[in-house]
Amino acid sequence: MSDYIVRIRRHWESLSQLDPDTSIIDPNDRRGEKNRYIAWLRDRAFKAALTRVDADGADRFEVVLDYGCGSGSASLPLLRDGRVVVGIDIAQGLLAQAARRCATYPCIFARSDGVSLPLRRSSVDAVVTYGVLIYLLDDADAEQLLREIRASMRPGALIVIIEQAKRRHGLSNDGIKVFRTPAEWKALLEAAGFVVDRTAIMRSGRFPLVPLIRTGIVPRALWPLIAMLEGWFVRAVGIPPWDYVDLVLEAHS
Ligand SMILES: C[S@@+](CC[C@H](N)C(=O)[O-])C[C@H]1O[C@@H](n2cnc3c(N)ncnc32)[C@H](O)[C@@H]1O
Repeated sequence: MSDYIVRIRRHWESLSQLDPDTSIIDPNDRRGEKNRYIAWLRDRAFKAALTRVDADGADRFEVVLDYGCGSGSASLPLLRDGRVVVGIDIAQGLLAQAARRCATYPCIFARSDGVSLPLRRSSVDAVVTYGVLIYLLDDADAEQLLREIRASMRPGALIVIIEQAKRRHGLSNDGIKVFRTPAEWKALLEAAGFVVDRTAIMRSGRFPLVPLIRTGIVPRALWPLIAMLEGWFVRAVGIPPWDYVDLVLEAHS
């Protein structure tokens, strides 16, 4: 296992000491309200992509791989929608939280080495992944992993990836994640053999109303309005020069 994967595993194992909603998005969000808002946007994007294709093809995506599932925050709504979830992650502590949180549903959680996938060929109907591939700093590792994910997907399966993107390629200040540009994310998926059907910006990292949500004073009934304003903002501005965005990529094999 490469040094940087060992470092990333250590980072996520240490966060698994926190509450399962705090650990996986912004660990400094002590009230957890900002994390819940972002998770709500994420789950809405996954659900929209899966149900759109379900409806188009009269072909339901039943078995879903949640790659880099963390504490099972995205797995739970998929299970509540009647799907079966296979969750894979590098951090045992987070997987234990996921197993506890989803215990009453049809799911299985397993640890991987972060660059290969312990799944049979053509065994899943769809794949979702949120905030994971940015931790694969090396494009060759990310491409190899995506090839393995593709091999685990049955013909016609869908993959929905949500990752941070910036106008310019660069590492985060702590050096543990890489910001790829939208064109680089698309090229990476294509290099692994996927056909990209759709890309869209889901949110902007520092949208000014999100700090308000974090204080806890914004009622949840207002989240759809804030999401709508955020949607207008990112459609008008694209990726702001000072910020990152969460980019949604939908592709098939
Ligand atoms: C930002 S958290 C997101 C967790 C989850 N996807 C969610 O939406 O709640 C990133 C997750 O990716 C996992 N991770 C990081 N690098 C990974 C890799 N190479 N393979 C599998 N999981 C990885 C971490 O352990 C962590 O659980």
